[in-house]
Amino acid sequence: MAQLWGGRFTKETDEAVYQFNASIGFDQKMYRQDIEGSIAHSKMLGKQGIISQEDVDAIIAGLEGILKDIESGELEISSRYEDIHSFVEANLIDRIGDAGKRLHTGRSRNDQVALDMKLYTRNVIDNTDVLLKDLLTVLLDIIKNNTDTYMPGFTHLQKAQPTTLAHHMSAYFEMFLRDRQRLADIRKRMNLCPLGSGAMAGTTYPLDRAYTAELLGFDGPTRNSMDSVSDRDYVIELLSAFSTVMMHLSRFSEELIVWNSNEYRFVEMDDAYSTGSSIMPQKKNPDIAELVRGKTGRVYGALISILTTMKGLPLAYNKDMQEDKEMAFDAFETVGDCLYLFTGMLSTISFRKDVMAKSAMNGFTNATDAADYLVNKGVPFRDAHGIIGRMVLLCIDKNCAIEDLSMDEFKELCPAFEEDIYDAISLETCVNKRLTLGAPGQDAMNKVIAMYEAYLADEKAL
Ligand code: ARG
Repeated sequence: MAQLWGGRFTKETDEAVYQFNASIGFDQKMYRQDIEGSIAHSKMLGKQGIISQEDVDAIIAGLEGILKDIESGELEISSRYEDIHSFVEANLIDRIGDAGKRLHTGRSRNDQVALDMKLYTRNVIDNTDVLLKDLLTVLLDIIKNNTDTYMPGFTHLQKAQPTTLAHHMSAYFEMFLRDRQRLADIRKRMNLCPLGSGAMAGTTYPLDRAYTAELLGFDGPTRNSMDSVSDRDYVIELLSAFSTVMMHLSRFSEELIVWNSNEYRFVEMDDAYSTGSSIMPQKKNPDIAELVRGKTGRVYGALISILTTMKGLPLAYNKDMQEDKEMAFDAFETVGDCLYLFTGMLSTISFRKDVMAKSAMNGFTNATDAADYLVNKGVPFRDAHGIIGRMVLLCIDKNCAIEDLSMDEFKELCPAFEEDIYDAISLETCVNKRLTLGAPGQDAMNKVIAMYEAYLADEKAL
């Protein structure tokens, strides 16, 4: 074992204690952020005359060498070190000697880890935004191609009113659009640099915090050093936003699983995104959608874990906070994988338009429109509702759809019915008469599609 702090100790750390305390097994994921932060810190120390330009040059060359060697696999991150910060610093000192020992001037591992975690999290936000945009692009494509693909809309998982596949997919577009907005909002709020906060009370060295903040792409330095080293709100906010992303993906997965079932047959999953059974030769299972739905649980778990870890902590840094990483990293990876695979699955799915339309035609999805027809002929809505209710009973009895009734049968139920009833309750009419913004009617849908197009082309925010 190798550590940065042996000076005031007279005994070696117990091996089990060392293992329990160490975080290198998981915080090594942040090696890039640790090196990037140290390069910025050393540049600032040089600019302020706290260390010599010669030392700065040696430190930067040393750190860049470490980065290169880790990435090429030449340098293995060793578990002999307590954490990634100790590993990088010790390696730097091995490489460049005394200059390396000056790097940690005016810095604590507390502001260092706060910075590394922020840089890592910010990077995750940026990568996730790209994945969400890819998903929205696939969705828009499906929406544009299916404004006249009729299907039943459901409430209580019972057929309710006819709609289109475009309209159904547009509901998911809205959800993932809000997810992107949430990420942008979190990024904006978290983008202040904690470096220079020291252990908790800043430092006596004349650091230029605005300069390091700028070098690292932050909007400025944080305003309170105690808060800076003990703030993990941004991890909580991101895990909360990610839980919502997973909730959306999970609902969508659930629908696709149902639609892919033998009973529904609305969709056919591509072979590349399905799996077979070891015993039942006929099976083609939607495992990817099921796994996405299943993995939602571990992302929620990460959120609850960090909320619980943070809830009793006095200011400022406490070692409990080392527990912010493992489950968060797992959740970050899970969300990235799920978005990537779900998008691939969705882009290769085929929709059985004929099955969907047929399903929309039975189940009395046009009953509301039949009632509205009577209202337009002067029948009060409550009476119309009763008449159509009796009509549905008659159809169930005759095992037919509303549009299968004869004109005489219509007239017998209510004399206000005329020949134009058949057109008024056709699938096309039922959908395309719904023209309020947000409804499935073709003209209304086209307006929304134009908004989505401008949004994805970065022309107009939504
Ligand atoms: N491994 C620690 C963490 O992740 C780094 C900070 C350690 N600071 C300290 N004072 N022990 O939180």
